Amino acid sequence: MHIDILTLFPEMFSAYLNESILKRAQESGRVTIHLHNIRDYTTDRHHITDLPPFGGGGGMILKPEPIFAAVEAVLGEPLVVNRLHSSSLIPHPSIILLTPQGRLFNQKVAEELAQHERLLLICGRYEGVDERVREHLVTDEISIGDYVLTGGELAAMVVVDAVTRLLPGVLGAEGAAATDSHATGLLEGPHYTRPETFRGWTVPDLLRSGHQGQIEQWRRQQALRRTWHRRPELLLTAPLTEEDKRFLAQLAAGE
Ligand code: ADE
Repeated sequence: MHIDILTLFPEMFSAYLNESILKRAQESGRVTIHLHNIRDYTTDRHHITDLPPFGGGGGMILKPEPIFAAVEAVLGEPLVVNRLHSSSLIPHPSIILLTPQGRLFNQKVAEELAQHERLLLICGRYEGVDERVREHLVTDEISIGDYVLTGGELAAMVVVDAVTRLLPGVLGAEGAAATDSHATGLLEGPHYTRPETFRGWTVPDLLRSGHQGQIEQWRRQQALRRTWHRRPELLLTAPLTEEDKRFLAQLAAGE
């Protein structure tokens, strides 16, 4: 997958993207991430990227020209098409604006984005971006939660992280992402590692028993139990087996 990120603050990304799994994913070529400074696409002497809004009101608004110019330069073609114009001439990648007004990001959206060969993320800043970017350039808008950040950079990093770890070969064990919290529609249950006893707290015997079938059943029940206690609304949409339902009925009955 190739990801382009348009931002006024490219330096914000380097520490996060160049460590651990994201670093290895890039080194192995499973993902390439290019950062582009929107300011480089201004054409005026002062490199202005934002101005006060028409009609007054507080805050600054990101101007449309440098954002359009950046996207066109990055994609290598003039862009005259968008989701509103069905006569799309160039098959362009998802052009995603990070904004608190976007659709809410979750594991399902991450899985959907992981199917794309190319993503282009635009980080909003200040009071927002000129509406023409929304209407005529972007194909998708994503929010990482119902709170307002100072810009879309952290949100873009969240999206890049959650999507990259889903790409084939990025996580050590093939399929490791399949049992993650949320990937199964449930929260994951507890995990333990050595030592067996730490400050008098001992790892459950079953996990050291080698009975793989029973361990899997225990894990499933722990996931159900944890989801029931912490995020019961997830149980309404999680795929559940008859056995799961019986276990939840026992929980509900207080057994
Ligand atoms: N920019 C500011 N707040 C944001 C949010 N919650 N999600 C995505 N982008 C943002």
